[in-house]
Amino acid sequence: MEKNNLELVKMLNFPQLGDERGELIVVEGAQNIPFEIKRVFYICKTLENVVRGQHANLKTEFVLINVAGSSKVKVVDESGNEMIVVLNKPNTGVYLPKMVWKEMYDFSEDSVLLVLASEHYDPKEYIRSFDDYKKLLKENNNG
Ligand code: TYD
Repeated sequence: MEKNNLELVKMLNFPQLGDERGELIVVEGAQNIPFEIKRVFYICKTLENVVRGQHANLKTEFVLINVAGSSKVKVVDESGNEMIVVLNKPNTGVYLPKMVWKEMYDFSEDSVLLVLASEHYDPKEYIRSFDDYKKLLKENNNG
């Protein structure tokens, strides 16, 4: 049976190559990141109570890493099943497959959330309505 998209979400741990000078953490596309990286963006100086994301992507896979501070990521599937991940270590990330609904929230004041993406930005592949997301997945599962 095909895996539910939520089951494909996974935590990633990156090796710490630091020494007495400090920490060094390396992420490499198609190596410890499960896709070739085409886009990088970061979310910082987020105001209190802000919720970001609130969308699903038709094609793009992501890895989210709080390189400083902390935030939470809630992932929801079409049946409303939820998974909440706390990101608070620079050597830990979460892999999000395509077609999961995601929300990022509870950003600490010092949060720098690094996002690695498998695709270039294309607003047409963003699904910004939860109802549309549910409908699309139901159609795909029935067809
Ligand atoms: P938005 O989708 O609200 O970001 P998030 O998913 O983090 O909540 O994006 C905010 C704006 O930035 C919106 O106008 C689209 C633009 N944008 C790009 O041009 N390229 C990108 O890679 C991203 C993530 C956003």
